[in-house]
Amino acid sequence: MSTEQQRPACYSPGLDGIPVAESAISHVDGQQGRLEYRGIDIELLAKHSTFEETCVLLLDGQLPSRSELDAFEAGLRNHRRIKFRVRDIMKSFPDSAHPMDALQACIAILGMFYPMPKSADRLSEEQVKESCYRLIGKLPTLVAAHARMRLGDDPIPPRDDLGQAANFLYMLTGREPSPLMTRIMDVALIVHAEHTINASTFSTLVTASTMADPYTCVSAAIGALSGPLHGGANEDVLVMLDEIGDVEKTEAYLHDRLARKEKIPGLGHRIYKTKDPRAVLLQSLYQDLTAEMGEDPTFTIARRIEELSQGTLGRKGICPNVDFYSGIIYRKLGIPTDVFTPVFAISRVVGWLAHWKESLHHSRIYRPVQIYTGKTGEPYIPIEERVRD
Ligand code: COA
Repeated sequence: MSTEQQRPACYSPGLDGIPVAESAISHVDGQQGRLEYRGIDIELLAKHSTFEETCVLLLDGQLPSRSELDAFEAGLRNHRRIKFRVRDIMKSFPDSAHPMDALQACIAILGMFYPMPKSADRLSEEQVKESCYRLIGKLPTLVAAHARMRLGDDPIPPRDDLGQAANFLYMLTGREPSPLMTRIMDVALIVHAEHTINASTFSTLVTASTMADPYTCVSAAIGALSGPLHGGANEDVLVMLDEIGDVEKTEAYLHDRLARKEKIPGLGHRIYKTKDPRAVLLQSLYQDLTAEMGEDPTFTIARRIEELSQGTLGRKGICPNVDFYSGIIYRKLGIPTDVFTPVFAISRVVGWLAHWKESLHHSRIYRPVQIYTGKTGEPYIPIEERVRD
């Protein structure tokens, strides 16, 4: 049979437009620029909810009652600490380790400390719940601990009187954040928590379909998130803004970069063909933050890039995505540039776990097909006869 005959009718590079799962967790309308978690617009969640409430919504399918929320928050608090042996292993990571690589390694290591049955049928509801508490609770502690330890500082233990957002900033910087900083961090966590089947969530699903444990699924997802075309873009945005340095140089910089056919980080999205609703929310949060902490020149440059890109790129539907403004906010909150993507993971772990849970009882191992373009029936040539020109 020729290669052409084998080609499935629906082949689509990057699986563009191909459904790979059924899910009731989130919904994106790329034309209107809307994102809903379990049917609720993220704008409403950003306004009225907390990250912890949003976690329950995503994981369990509905907003929690007061007592359910109290139980969930207590579950996270009880699982935030990391074992001293995990900290000891982290001490031997090389200084050159990117925080995403360190985080991926840490999550794989956690799996060895909390072994689980390798079959959904043998997993109890309690084990599923506990692994969600552990992963959501410990990720911020691991990220903050690594960021401090690589500088030779001791990790700061979590504080039980602080929520996820404030506690993370406290463990990272050693200072308790203001109520506004806490709220902004909380909203940033809410808007990054879930986004249908993107590359990292698909990695979770593929790994989960083999009945691998949730630590392995999350560590696979972190690997996928680390790439510059996915979560790594917010780091690249800041590198670009620093490189431009002066708003007057923005136009020439963009022109040169586009002439070299390079993509502009933070712009464009496979699904959104208008401005990403998360970018809209983050941009307005930044404006609140400047009222408390003063202007930042990088924001002025980012606004100029947005203005200039509205022409040619905007007409193609290439608009600011979630990564365009998140880095500017994170820097203002005192988060180092290479920790931006781990912060994405601190939030997105909730979406990955919601998909892991959803897939547990109706998953089939992923086994797509390839389109073979190589040779067949070739002879075996002995090594002495393999002559190269
Ligand atoms: N800067 C400049 N041009 C861009 C662009 C960008 N950021 N993103 C897309 N384009 C251009 C492409 O070059 C292509 O141009 P062409 O039609 O002349 O060939 C066109 O827009 C379509 O882009 P395409 O690569 O098909 O989009 P995609 O859906 O495959 O890719 C991304 C989406 C996110 C991978 C892509 O927009 C990108 O690389 N963005 C920068 C990285 C980023 O911010 N990632 C975070 C996403 S949340």
